[in-house]
Amino acid sequence: MNDKDLTARAAEFRSRAYAPYSGFSVGAALLGKSGKVYGGVNVENASYPVGICAERAAIAAAVTAGERAFEALAIIADSPVPCAPCGMCRQMLVEFPIARIILANTAGDVCVMTPAELLPHAFGAAVLPEKETAHEDPHR
Ligand code: THU
Repeated sequence: MNDKDLTARAAEFRSRAYAPYSGFSVGAALLGKSGKVYGGVNVENASYPVGICAERAAIAAAVTAGERAFEALAIIADSPVPCAPCGMCRQMLVEFPIARIILANTAGDVCVMTPAELLPHAFGAAVLPEKETAHEDPHR
């Protein structure tokens, strides 16, 4: 699936966002190495910090389905510039291999980045005493 089609999928998912508090709907579409696409939307809560962003919802959906390596992630919102993931989502995204991240807005502006460009000098499992490398072996 090409970046344009994946971004269109993200826009479809975005229509299901639950964002009554911010009014800012975000959609994410995560393309697994298998070719399957996993959707995510932001799901807000009356207790504001409880809400989850679209990107982390998409990762959770993919991991739940058994997929842990990805070709691309498209993120879209009605933002003046292509929608960039928040800091917490960047940390979540660098946990799993993703070849490219497509930032988009509904006006059609697009910016393609790598996870390392989004979060340079990231904290990761490599510095932990006992490395958690479960994503390398889905059957572990
Ligand atoms: N949000 C996302 O879902 N992804 C982003 O990349 C940026 C922010 C959500 C969180 C919250 O529900 C709303 O957008 C406003 O911050």
